[in-house]
Amino acid sequence: DKAGFKHFMAKEIAEQPTVLADALGAYLEGDTIRLPGQGVDFSRIERLTLVACGTAFYACLTAKYWFEQLARLPVEVDIASEFRYREPPVLPGTTAVFVSQSGETADTLAALRFCKGRADRILSVVNVETSSIARESDLALPIHAGVEIGVASTKAFTCQLNVLLLLAIEAAVARGHMSVQDRATLLTQIRGLPGLFNAALDRDASIEAAAQKISEARDVLFLGRGTMYPLALEGALKLKEISYIHAEAYASGELKHGPIALIDKTVPVIVMAPHDALFDKTVSNMQEVMARGGKVCLITDATGAAEAGEGVWQVITLPEVDSRLAPLLYALPAQLLAYHAAVAKGTDVDQPRNLAKSVTVE
Ligand code: M6R
Repeated sequence: DKAGFKHFMAKEIAEQPTVLADALGAYLEGDTIRLPGQGVDFSRIERLTLVACGTAFYACLTAKYWFEQLARLPVEVDIASEFRYREPPVLPGTTAVFVSQSGETADTLAALRFCKGRADRILSVVNVETSSIARESDLALPIHAGVEIGVASTKAFTCQLNVLLLLAIEAAVARGHMSVQDRATLLTQIRGLPGLFNAALDRDASIEAAAQKISEARDVLFLGRGTMYPLALEGALKLKEISYIHAEAYASGELKHGPIALIDKTVPVIVMAPHDALFDKTVSNMQEVMARGGKVCLITDATGAAEAGEGVWQVITLPEVDSRLAPLLYALPAQLLAYHAAVAKGTDVDQPRNLAKSVTVE
């Protein structure tokens, strides 16, 4: 049931404020985080290995920044198909975490089985609680996104980010890098996210207008720094998956190591840059693009737009958000740009060619 929406993907994007609020309800208890079962004792963990495919892999890449910055916990992130055949050494003190919406992805399941008897403990972050990956892990952490039907993962991504962020906060407190007072303050901000999601969804018209223009391009580049780098990767994956436009993402600082050669007026460059500590660095990369005739679509907040929006081709302005929570909010324009570009091109949004919702063969 599409509940009046034209596509399941549109419905699932729009559902995010509600499902995120539900997910928070399942994990938050007053000023504390309540994990299922025995929970996770982060004071005993020396390192994390996060493994997944596709969008779930980008959720893991984002989480690496959180675990390292908030909890000073070393994190290795890998694509499941690489991890399983590389058979890397799993050192004592390692907890392995497998992230999968379906819980049935063949490569992710194989990587999990490789870690059995090698990692101290196996956690999974799943949407389907009865799935193979959930059943075969020591502890399954449900993301509570509800059934996701569109092949392009949307609400599962933000709900994966939510659980991974809560884990990073738990790790930060357990390892003595965050006080319980600071946790309470951050949880208050997190409780505000569904409201910010609604405010971002209200700006859909400006995103649709940008997407219409972008849909005419053959190639699109996404740029971001820090946690906006994995968000750029996710934006590029979403765009190519459903609109069939060739899209690539780069860490902004990599621009002059190659991709800047592609820049001309036919290649839109989508720059994801909330006004955070890295903003000026990203803006200087953006100006390098503009100086070469590149057309920039800047996704930022009101402060960022006021500081750097001058002369930019398209500006999408999101609500201001704590920089630690920005990845969740900036997922929305990444999803909506792809969605509207695909609709403009007339592709089969919910069933893009050659793709399956659950990749159960390698
Ligand atoms: O079910 P999973 O989370 O394990 O699926 C992983 C990928 O196949 C999936 O995220 C895929 O990349 C999506 N179609 C992206 O939108």
